Amino acid sequence: MNGSDGQGARKLTIHDFQAFKTRGEPLAMVTAYDHPTASLADEAGVDSILVGDSIGNNVLGYSSTLPVTMDEMVTHCRAVSSAVRRAFVVGDLPYMSYQPSPRDAVLNAGRLMSEGGADAVKLEGGAPMLAAITAIVGAGIPVLGHIGLTPQSAAALGGLKVQGREATDAARLLDEAKALEEAGVFGLVLEAVPARVAWIITESVRVLTIGIGAGVHCDGQVLIMHDMFGLSAHKPRFAKQYADIGAMFRAGFEAYRADVKAREFPAEEHSFKIKAEELQRLESLRDTAGTPG
Ligand code: KIV
Repeated sequence: MNGSDGQGARKLTIHDFQAFKTRGEPLAMVTAYDHPTASLADEAGVDSILVGDSIGNNVLGYSSTLPVTMDEMVTHCRAVSSAVRRAFVVGDLPYMSYQPSPRDAVLNAGRLMSEGGADAVKLEGGAPMLAAITAIVGAGIPVLGHIGLTPQSAAALGGLKVQGREATDAARLLDEAKALEEAGVFGLVLEAVPARVAWIITESVRVLTIGIGAGVHCDGQVLIMHDMFGLSAHKPRFAKQYADIGAMFRAGFEAYRADVKAREFPAEEHSFKIKAEELQRLESLRDTAGTPG
């Protein structure tokens, strides 16, 4: 048995996701970047794990997602994909791994699949990314689109801002969603989009919409694990915190430090013993070694 809802351990596929949309069951996706947390999310019955390039801010100490490399994404995808039995793993294509040309896009998407063990890839952007999406889908790799707030183009967007608040921007998002669907994506992440606009998009496309800061009417939701568990420096308004594991870590580190300073750790149960006769032999060896020759 795998998952709190008693679901079996069969790996989910994009066909299952389409069925989720048809029967109105919301899909639950989270980010994870390592083996142990991916395994916990999978055991909890989370449907999909995104190995996001948000690893840059959340794990690797970068100030944005831009410095994240393909090699880093491959390493962390592999750590996640080797941990899960049921969840569908999506590997994020990092900045400049797909923008230069459709060929780059296919080769790097292929790396996330073959070396990283991902089940699909995600990339950011609307109309300018259609050629890359068509090429990756043409190579037999499922693609998750990502429109609205696309952090890799934060500079061009004028910052990390809600997108589609004005009617013309919202209409552009709707057009992009339809164009991406046409290009073959199996789903779309809608990030930081007014809930009503995300709802209109969700009703206008056949593929799955997965919202983050996009309201409750998307076909699924994705949250960044570090926002959920009190591990990020700044929790965005749209994120919900489910536990304060950051506080638990801090308390644990403080208690450990205090134990070490007070010589209360390690205690006897954390230490190994040597038999009395072996200790005696050691003493005589030391004596012999100490005798001048
Ligand atoms: O990298 C990431 O975690 C993402 C999510 C915000 C959807 O792209």
